[in-house]
Amino acid sequence: MINFSKRMTELSNFPTEELAEELNSSDANSVRERIQELRTTIRYHQHRYYVLDDPILSDSEFDTLFRELQALENAHPELRSDDSPTVRVGGVLSERFEKVRHPTPLLSLANAFSETDLHAWRERVKRFLPEKRRSELAYGVEPKFDGLTVVLHYENGRFVLGATRGDGEYGENITPNLRTVRRLPLEISSGSHPVDGAAQAPQKALPPSRLVVRGEVYVDKADFTLFNEKQVAAEERIYANPRNFAAGSLRQLDSAISATRPLKLWVYQILILEGEANPPTTQRESLAYLAQLGLPVCPDVRHFEDNNFEELMRYLNEFGDRRFDLPYEIDGLVLKVDALPLQNLLGYTGKDPRWAIAYKWAGVEAVTTLLDIVVNVGRTGVITPNAVLKPVQITGVTVRNATLHNEDYIRDLDIRIGDQVVVKRAGEVIPKVLRPLMEMRQGNEQPWQMPATCPVCAQPLVRAPDEAATYCVNSACPAQLVRAVEHFVARWAMDIDSFGFKQAELFVQKGYIKDLADIYHLPWDEILQLEGYKEKRVEKLRAGVEASKDRPIHRLLMGLGIRFVGGTVAELLMQRYASLETLMQASTADLSDIEGIGPRIAESVVKYFSLEPNRALIQKFAAAGVRVAEERAVMAPSAAQPFAGLTFVVTGTLPTFTRDEAQDFIKAHGGKVASSVSSKTNYVVVGENAGSKLTKAEALAVPVLSEAALRTLASAEE
Ligand code: IVH
Repeated sequence: MINFSKRMTELSNFPTEELAEELNSSDANSVRERIQELRTTIRYHQHRYYVLDDPILSDSEFDTLFRELQALENAHPELRSDDSPTVRVGGVLSERFEKVRHPTPLLSLANAFSETDLHAWRERVKRFLPEKRRSELAYGVEPKFDGLTVVLHYENGRFVLGATRGDGEYGENITPNLRTVRRLPLEISSGSHPVDGAAQAPQKALPPSRLVVRGEVYVDKADFTLFNEKQVAAEERIYANPRNFAAGSLRQLDSAISATRPLKLWVYQILILEGEANPPTTQRESLAYLAQLGLPVCPDVRHFEDNNFEELMRYLNEFGDRRFDLPYEIDGLVLKVDALPLQNLLGYTGKDPRWAIAYKWAGVEAVTTLLDIVVNVGRTGVITPNAVLKPVQITGVTVRNATLHNEDYIRDLDIRIGDQVVVKRAGEVIPKVLRPLMEMRQGNEQPWQMPATCPVCAQPLVRAPDEAATYCVNSACPAQLVRAVEHFVARWAMDIDSFGFKQAELFVQKGYIKDLADIYHLPWDEILQLEGYKEKRVEKLRAGVEASKDRPIHRLLMGLGIRFVGGTVAELLMQRYASLETLMQASTADLSDIEGIGPRIAESVVKYFSLEPNRALIQKFAAAGVRVAEERAVMAPSAAQPFAGLTFVVTGTLPTFTRDEAQDFIKAHGGKVASSVSSKTNYVVVGENAGSKLTKAEALAVPVLSEAALRTLASAEE
C-alpha cells in the first residue's frame, strides 16, 4: 500500500502570495487534500459566523485559514473551484431576513503584509494608469474597522433601508435594527454639520435625492468588555470579540434587543449618489461630504501625495504601534487611491478593487523544536521538504508544520533535526522556519539530507541543474495517478459518491486504474472480493460511478486536471464549445478570444489535447457512455464596455506593461485579445522587437498602437 496520505493531511500551513510561486512548483498532491479540508472548515466557520452568530474562531484565525486556501489556489489554479469559499465570499444568507440586492456588488480588499507588498501595489496602480494621469495620484489612509459591514440607503434625505453585506451581491434587510444605532442619522440634511479639519464640501440647500453608503457597525472595546461582564453575571451568552458582538446584535429578530446594544457606526464609501449638483470627485471629498450630511465619519484619516509614499509607510508603522490605544478594534489600515476617476480607471480584479489595499501589520515569531523533516511528492514530481514542528501557539493558532522550501534553504541555513527553530507566522499567516538557534544546540542535532529515492515509487530522485528543486522523474510514479484520480472523482469535478483518496490509492495499486477512463471499467466482481468492500458499499460506489456519466461536460473537463483549468475556466470553455470534440480542435487564438481566457490557459489546453493519449482518453470516456457533448446552442460572448467589440493583438516588449498586464488592461476595458493577427483584428499593440505580427498588421492594414496610444484610447473611450 502506498503510504503517503497520512503525512499529507498533516500539513497544515503553506505560504501565500510571495510564496505562491514556490508552491506552484511544490507539493500539489498534499495540497489537494489540504484545499478540500480548508474549504470544508471555512464553510463551517462561515456558517457559525454568518448564520448562527456564534463563531468559535477569532477573526485572525479565520483569516489564517482563508489566506492559506487563497495561497494554495493561487499556486494551483487547476484545483480552483467555483464552489470554493474564496469565490463565494462569506455571508450565507439566513432565511430569517428578507434579501436585498445591493446596487453595486460589495467587493472586498486584497491584503498587503509588508512594505514590499505596498510598493508592488503602488507600482501596479501606476502601470494601470495612463501616464498623463499619474501626476494626480494621491492616497487616503483609513482605519480598517473591525465590525459588521452595512449598506445604508437614503432617499430624499431619509433613511429608508439598511442591509448587511451578505454574499456581496445580496444582503439581509436589517433596517429596523439599524434604526436603533444611535450614531446612524435617520435623516440627513445638508450643510448644517460643519466638519472639523476636513476640506469643506460646498453648502447645499437640499439633501441628495438618493445616497447609498457603505459603512461598518462596531462596538467600543470598553462597551464590549462591560457587556460581556454583565452577561457573565447574568449567566447569559457572551461574544467572542467585538466584531461578533456587532454582528450578533444587528442580526436579532427583535430590534428591541439591538436597541439595548451600544453599537456605533462609521461610514467610509459612497456607493450611489444622485441628485447632487456638485458631487465629490475624491475619496477625501466624499468623506467630508458624508460628514457634512451628518453621517459619522472617522477623523483618523490621512492624506498622502504619491511623492510622499515613504512618509505614508512611516505613518502605517507608527499607527500600528498605537492601534491598541484606539477605543475600537481595527484589523489594519486601508490605502485608497484618492481620485474617484482614477479609481474607475483602475477597476477591479476578481473581487478586489485595484485602487485600494488593506495593510496588515506583521505577525509574530515563536521558537519551537524541529522534530522531523518530511518530503512530499507533488503532482509534477517536485519534492518539497516540510518541517514537522513541536506544536506551538502563534497568535492564537497552533502551528505544527512549516515550509522549508527546498534542499538549499535547509543547507544554507544549516537547519538540523532537533534544532530549536524560529518560526514566523506573518500577516500572511502561513508559517515559515526562519532560522535555527545555534546557541541552543546540544550537539545531538542531526543534519538532514534529501533522500536519494522517491518516498512513493522508490525511484532515484533527480536534482535539475541550475534549479533548487528536486524531482521524481518517474512518470509512472503512482503518486501522480492516484492524485489525478482523486481530483477527477472529487465533489467539484465528477462528484463520485463514496469515491475518495482511499479508493483511488487502492484501485491504482491493484492495477485496476491505469488512466482516468478506467474508472468506468472497474472490475466490480473483483472489488467485491476485497476486504471491506461488501455488496452494499460496492453498489453505492458503482451507482456513484454510473451517475457521474451524466455530469455537465465542464465538470469532466475540469476533472481532467489540465493545468490552469479550474471550475470557472472549464465553464467558460464549455459555454463556447458544446463538445470536447470541438474544443480539441480549437487553436490557442480561438481560445484566447474567449473573454476570461488568457494565452497561458489557451496554450495549456491546446498542449494537453495535442497529445495523442489525451485525445484517446476522451474517446474512451465517450465509448464508456460518459457525456462528452452538451445538447444546446453555443453562447455568444457578452460585451458592453469601452473596448467592447474590439479585438487586439499584443506583440513585442512594451515599455511598462508586461504582456499579461496589457492583456488584462484590454480585457478590463471590455476588449478581446487574440494571439495572431487576422483581418478581424482591430488593433495591434506593439512594443520593442515586434516581429512578424507587426509585418502582418502592416500587410493587412490593421492599425498599430503604442502602449501610450492604447492607454489614450482607453481613456478617450472612458
Ligand atoms: S473600503 C471595494 N474602507 O473591510 C472595497 N473597507 O476586507 C471597499 N472595511 O468588509 C472597501 N473598514 O467593508 C473600506 N475604511 C474602510 C474599511 C473597510 C473596514 C471593511 C469592508 C470589508 C472589509 C474588506
